[in-house]
Amino acid sequence: MRIGMLTGGGDCPGLNAVIRAVVRKGILHYGDEFIGFMEGWKGVLNDTTMPLNLETTSGILQRGGTILRSSRTNIKKIEGGFEKCLKVLKDEKLDALIALGGDDTQSISLELIKRGVPCVGVPKTIDNDLSGTDACFGFDTAVSIATEAVDRLHSTTESHSRVQVVEVMGRDAGWIAVTAGVAGGADVVLAPEKEIDIEDVVRLVKARYAGSKRFAIVVVAEGAKLPHVEGQVTIGEKKDSFGHARLSGIGQALAEEIEKRTGFETRSVNLGHTQRGGTPTAFDRMLATRYGIAAIDLVHQGGFGQLVVLKGTAITNIPIADAIAKTRTVGEDLFDVIKGLQPKK
Ligand code: F6P
Repeated sequence: MRIGMLTGGGDCPGLNAVIRAVVRKGILHYGDEFIGFMEGWKGVLNDTTMPLNLETTSGILQRGGTILRSSRTNIKKIEGGFEKCLKVLKDEKLDALIALGGDDTQSISLELIKRGVPCVGVPKTIDNDLSGTDACFGFDTAVSIATEAVDRLHSTTESHSRVQVVEVMGRDAGWIAVTAGVAGGADVVLAPEKEIDIEDVVRLVKARYAGSKRFAIVVVAEGAKLPHVEGQVTIGEKKDSFGHARLSGIGQALAEEIEKRTGFETRSVNLGHTQRGGTPTAFDRMLATRYGIAAIDLVHQGGFGQLVVLKGTAITNIPIADAIAKTRTVGEDLFDVIKGLQPKK
């Protein structure tokens, strides 16, 4: 078969591991031929490609980012966009397309599937919030980076008897904040799932200072909401083509509020894109490789319109439409873990 592949949306450690696994199994076991579209759907629109073979995908397993590069290109917003894509896919004589991406990227896959394109999806987002799968690759790497940052911040925060706010990624769900917060031993963990209760944050910070330690660490997800701020905290008004604002600044806003209400010197650090960079963890390489193998097998089984997913410890597949229907948020069980570690109200 002749197969196209692309990576869309925010990049994520492990994308190259998926690409490599798809290409290796495709060539070595099925005799497939591949092309990679550059920069997500933009590459399909403009027919910009690179060859994907054993040579071009060699040595990329441990590399972060994506050799296919990425963009947030919303074909729905481009006049005649789908017609252009269909022509390119036909001209390239493709038998199938594998799209690696989160809900935005997969929403375009769905539109193309409706128009007859044989497409298989691979879930990707460091936010880990795609429903239908128990894990997205890249998340474990992001959590490792954030946890290391929280670990490192402990010594400097303690030396200066400060409160340190750490802003991590997580637009609609607090998976990174909750996991890195608990793993890093943060005193307060705040996620988009629950509006921030400033009084409670102040109570927890003061309780920490009342004990033997005179410092506190607060981890907050970029998408968490402050009661006195309308919506999420963003940089400017700019939105991407899928309508997402650039989130940033909740950490600083929260730090100012904590300092004002407690009198403790409070600093904020935003880990930002650092969490998406660099080499994937062994867990992410393994998960990404399993997804890649499952995706190429699915193509050969004719499982179009499906997304490969992890259920428990097994890789399986579900309709793409089901996966993007809603956000997978952090459950009460994990919020209970956080509460169990904190002094009671
Ligand atoms: O979708 C994943 C994510 O990492 C979000 O947590 C974050 O808000 C967004 O991407 C930022 O992406 P970018 O700045 O690359 O557009």
